[in-house]
Amino acid sequence: MSDRSRKLFGVQFHPEVVHTPWGVEIFRNFLYRQCGCRETWTPASVVTTSVEAIRNQVGSGKVACALSGGVDSAVTAALVHRAVGDQLTCIFMDHGFLRKGEAEQVVRTFRENFHVNLIHVQAQKRFLDRLQGVADPEEKRRIIGDEYANVLEENARKLGDVQFLAQGTLYPDVIESGTREAARIKTHHNVGGLPETLKLQLVEPARYLFKDEVRAVGEELGLPDDIVWRHPFPGPGLAIRILGEITPGHLETLREADAIIIDEIMAAGLYRRLFQCFGVLAPMKSVGVMGDQRTYGVTIILRAVVSDDAMTADWAQLPYEVLSRISTRIINEVPGVNRVAYDISSKPPATIEWE
Ligand code: XMP
Repeated sequence: MSDRSRKLFGVQFHPEVVHTPWGVEIFRNFLYRQCGCRETWTPASVVTTSVEAIRNQVGSGKVACALSGGVDSAVTAALVHRAVGDQLTCIFMDHGFLRKGEAEQVVRTFRENFHVNLIHVQAQKRFLDRLQGVADPEEKRRIIGDEYANVLEENARKLGDVQFLAQGTLYPDVIESGTREAARIKTHHNVGGLPETLKLQLVEPARYLFKDEVRAVGEELGLPDDIVWRHPFPGPGLAIRILGEITPGHLETLREADAIIIDEIMAAGLYRRLFQCFGVLAPMKSVGVMGDQRTYGVTIILRAVVSDDAMTADWAQLPYEVLSRISTRIINEVPGVNRVAYDISSKPPATIEWE
């Protein structure tokens, strides 16, 4: 509907939904033809504007940034680094629940390629010690969040007079509540924020970007594909993908199995088509047979989903050959696993993660 004389336009459906035919064109016409906006959004222009804004905000101050290995914090760190160089120190904590090769890659990218000041905190033992005997998923999350804050605070204090904290808040986090509360929801959800006692001002260069835009900016900044296109990963990582108690043995098993899953999905050219794919370790043991030996091993559950926004998700209809290769390789290559199961539940009523 419209009132052209007063330049008022409205629709009573959802042009923003991907399934709406001509939805994008409606926006295009409205913005460019009626409002007179110009198409100036490019990843390069976002980089230029953000870099300038960061310089204005930070001045000669010092900035800390907790890197998680995910794309949001990586792009944030890369933007801040481009803006203020050595005034930035990244803290990358290995809590021991990262995927195979992830820590090495983050360190290599930021320290060696970007020459960022990076503190690589090896806190694996501290986390494992505190999680001994803990099987309840909420309790695991609470302990990991708590320990993360402790270790991060210790390391941030060592940096001396830091005034700013760079954080990878995205626009969906901002609109989630419409207030500054949003950043806190994410911090809380994400293990990654520094405690409020440090009294740091937030630097959030990605707070007006959506995920696909963050990825475009990441590519513009020269971040490697592995980081830019990496699937979402929960802050507590593999710790919540191991059901029951976390042991070093189970961690090793899941890390290897998960790496095989990713490897085969990538080899099949399916990685970017999936929203997430990963392994889950179910500690219940079952009888199997290998050669002429009876085995008694754990089960790896393969989870692969397609989704737009993680609010709803469908299990991915992976080709049988890919399923077969994943299963054969995990059982042959990962000691202690004698069964691979495929999760064929959608969200809702299931969730994407198992916990
Ligand atoms: P569920 O399992 O609730 O997960 O369907 C929805 C999405 O959220 C991710 N997830 C997390 N992301 N910190 C995060 O940043 C977390 O603690 C966390 N827990 C779950 C999950 O991987 C999925 O994409």
